[in-house]
Amino acid sequence: MPSMRIAFVQGRPLFGRTEENLERGLALAATVDADLVVMPELWSTGYVFSSHEELAALAEDPRKGATAQALTWAAKREKRHYICGFAEAARGGRVYNSAMLVGPSGVKSVYRKLHLFEREQEWFEPGDIPLAVEKVGPARVGMLICFDWRFPETARALALMGADVIAHPSNLVYPNAQEAMRVRGLENRVYVVTANRTGTETRPGGTVPFTGRSQIVSPAGEVILRAKKSEEVALAEDCDLSRSRDKALSGITHLFDNRRPQFYGVVTAKTRTRKRAARA
Ligand code: ACM
Repeated sequence: MPSMRIAFVQGRPLFGRTEENLERGLALAATVDADLVVMPELWSTGYVFSSHEELAALAEDPRKGATAQALTWAAKREKRHYICGFAEAARGGRVYNSAMLVGPSGVKSVYRKLHLFEREQEWFEPGDIPLAVEKVGPARVGMLICFDWRFPETARALALMGADVIAHPSNLVYPNAQEAMRVRGLENRVYVVTANRTGTETRPGGTVPFTGRSQIVSPAGEVILRAKKSEEVALAEDCDLSRSRDKALSGITHLFDNRRPQFYGVVTAKTRTRKRAARA
């Protein structure tokens, strides 16, 4: 039975205090026995930016920055993997809201958030690299970030690419996202690990309260682990990967084989809903 022990870290990073945030996240992670630890979105920096200069000063090289270094060191020492959100500095001064997957030999891959939430669109470039699934021990793991939850095509694509587990670093603000992720687990028969922030961040750019309630959802859509709204905690659970690999809904019906993709073309076509509404 292929299985893996997966954890999330839920906490309250301090804006701009990268070193302290990484230290705190790794200290929480050290309290759990797990093969893969998922930390929240933008864990290293905090969330509410107030200028491009501020963001540029906090954005990191994805291979040599503070987050890559701290997680590589921890992954090597603890012989396990981490996924963590950070602000990624790229060529031409571009900054992405990204997550890195790190193992004992260093950064294995980076995901750039495809669907930016509200004012994030002022600060970050939208993701421009394809969704991907990576091997992590016996598991195949895909990454999404926070508001990607609102676009179910992302989780479906990862499941079709063979993901057993969707890691979902988050700074969630809508209270219904956790329930929606149960559906993403159920409709794709995958584990979904949402590592969310807690607390409220008040900065010159505004005040944002976060919803906590980080969770692991099973391929049947059950919440098998959930943190409280305000606690800072790391929690871990064993995930039986054979459950996510079994896509048979019954002896007759199969989640993937019974799809009718020839009727779904509109899902991948560009939509022009705003323009249509304006014309009407
Ligand atoms: C979000 O995408 N941080 C709500």
